[in-house]
Amino acid sequence: MGRIVVLDDQMVNMIAAGEVIERPASVLKELLENSIDAGGRCIRVDVEDGGCRLIAVADDGCGMDVEDIRTAFFPHATSKVRCTQDLHGVTTMGFRGEALASVAAVAQVTVTSRPADAVEGHRLRIDCGRFEEVRPCATAPGTTIEVRNLFAKLPARRKFLRTTNTEMGHISEQFTRVALAHPELDLTLTHNGRTLHRLTAGGGLVERIGELLGRAVADDLIEVRRQEKGMTLRALLGKPATARGTGQFQYVFLNRRYIRDRFISHAIREAYRGLIEPSKYPVVFLFLEMPPEAFDVNVHPAKVEVRFANANLVHSQVLAALRDKLLSMNLDAPGMLPKAPVPPPMSGPPPGDDEARRQRIAQAMADFFQKRPSGGGQRPLEFRGGPSGSRLSGPAPQEPAPSSFPTPARPEGTALPEPHGPSTADQAPAGVPAEPSRLLQIHDSYILVQTPEGFDIVDQHALHERILYERLCRKLADGPLMSQRLLMPEILDVSDAQAEAIHAHAALFEKLGIEIAPFGPGTVAVQSFPALLADIDVAGFVRDLLDRLTAREAGLDAERLLHEVLDMAACKAAIKAGQPLSEAEMAQLLADKAVVERASRCPHGRPTTLRFTLAELEKQFKRTGF
Ligand SMILES: Nc1ncnc2c1ncn2[C@@H]1O[C@H](COP(=O)(O)OP(=O)(O)OP(=O)(O)O)[C@@H](O)[C@H]1O
Ligand SMILES: [Mg+2]
Repeated sequence: MGRIVVLDDQMVNMIAAGEVIERPASVLKELLENSIDAGGRCIRVDVEDGGCRLIAVADDGCGMDVEDIRTAFFPHATSKVRCTQDLHGVTTMGFRGEALASVAAVAQVTVTSRPADAVEGHRLRIDCGRFEEVRPCATAPGTTIEVRNLFAKLPARRKFLRTTNTEMGHISEQFTRVALAHPELDLTLTHNGRTLHRLTAGGGLVERIGELLGRAVADDLIEVRRQEKGMTLRALLGKPATARGTGQFQYVFLNRRYIRDRFISHAIREAYRGLIEPSKYPVVFLFLEMPPEAFDVNVHPAKVEVRFANANLVHSQVLAALRDKLLSMNLDAPGMLPKAPVPPPMSGPPPGDDEARRQRIAQAMADFFQKRPSGGGQRPLEFRGGPSGSRLSGPAPQEPAPSSFPTPARPEGTALPEPHGPSTADQAPAGVPAEPSRLLQIHDSYILVQTPEGFDIVDQHALHERILYERLCRKLADGPLMSQRLLMPEILDVSDAQAEAIHAHAALFEKLGIEIAPFGPGTVAVQSFPALLADIDVAGFVRDLLDRLTAREAGLDAERLLHEVLDMAACKAAIKAGQPLSEAEMAQLLADKAVVERASRCPHGRPTTLRFTLAELEKQFKRTGF
């Protein structure tokens, strides 16, 4: 007897549901999209226990009659497409006719619906694929679908559901996406009876952004509009200074559908290149409208990805629109870039590019040899001519005396180490200079160090970041960081998801020595902060931390999360590129390098030091064989 059997419909539907319904938020997405397709103007969402117990969506859309109310839950039943031709021009959010069947296969569903012109409505209950009788009932025009106990009969799937907070975070995110795409709708979201959002139509997009994501995100956005080559683009762009630690505040919509697309993400990154640190993500709300034939939305189970007929064109149009706007603005220079002349943001290579690095090194060498005392005991190298040769005649700038080492304001732990006496210098490994006069800071960002073999170029920020990171790790191994009460609490606007994250990650906050208390609706007060990080921007740090904790791709284990946070703290507390250092500070930084593990890389894996040998130099200057 054969081993292969055709699965029954119930099984088929359950398997299909696995594709579409991953968690409560996926149910919400499908129900909201159906309500929008049905022409609903006022939609209410009630959720209990992060959607695990109940997700109910009520709309005032076209409703379903007694016949459709049943058919709607059959697999492959849809009113939105009829033939393959229709699939090439989809204008509705749904078109596969599988969402309701999938939901009904894995939960207890009650649907109540009434078309506007009908005198009464009808109700149908389906218990994990088992249909009951359709019964008449009194109800307002529109449709309400209640989904209870998702995956109740599928313990294997239920096990994968996370905490109520996490699931609610995903639900809020889905709600936010739909609400941003549809400012013309009245939308309400409640959780366990508490109203989280009551959004009224007509306020416009910026107002909606403010209501959903907080005033701080909505304020000061730059608007771009462009219509070209069959694409209409509208974007609201955050200023570079508001860039975040995660891509959480990047929303891209195509014909009102939230999408993720690597071409568009790349175009956004490119548009901001040189304006923000490479590790940061700009705040961007991008709305594209294109004819439905210009892309295929039938390529992803949840329709979150699309395939563009001409992805390169989309990329270049988005890039051009955003970049032109950003270039035309008088944006404040970001604090992290070196003060030294920077190539115009869009035309030159980005900082860190090979070419830029090569130029900086060439400049560094020129400056170094220009300054170098002639009688150094080693074979003097002459710098002959070259593009900057004329600057040889200029007076060498005076370095501040070592005694001018500034100590104020740096808290214990983030401070550069105390100057080392001669004995410490003796113990210093190769690369640590014996004489401070062999140190030179260039572009207020890099330290040039003469070594017995040649010279090193040290990235001051990357190195200090590494040192602080190691120090924070060591301190944390002994227990929670020492906390210090703030004289003035920092008040922050937080979204629901962020408020939940504070609650959910209480242990992490305690470890870090950060104390946060509720402070009225939508706001919290940071009351204590780790003493070690006392001079960093408290609000900015906590905001970035919350972004990270509520990031869509969150789900890091506690250990990795902690290290990410330490990494972020070190980055913020470290001396910056563009910050002038005294010789004593430079010497201490380099001496400290010697005692730090893995000091040759910053916590992000970038090198802290580039090493050059005299032999290489001589080869470059064609002095070999002299
Ligand atoms: N809120 C609603 N109001 C009116 N009709 C609805 C509503 N929800 C669903 N329907 C009807 O039920 C049908 C089936 O819905 P379902 O979500 O399963 O499929 P779909 O939206 O057509 O396609 P997809 O599976 O891609 O979402 C829809 O085509 C629509 O006619
Ligand atoms: Mg649908």
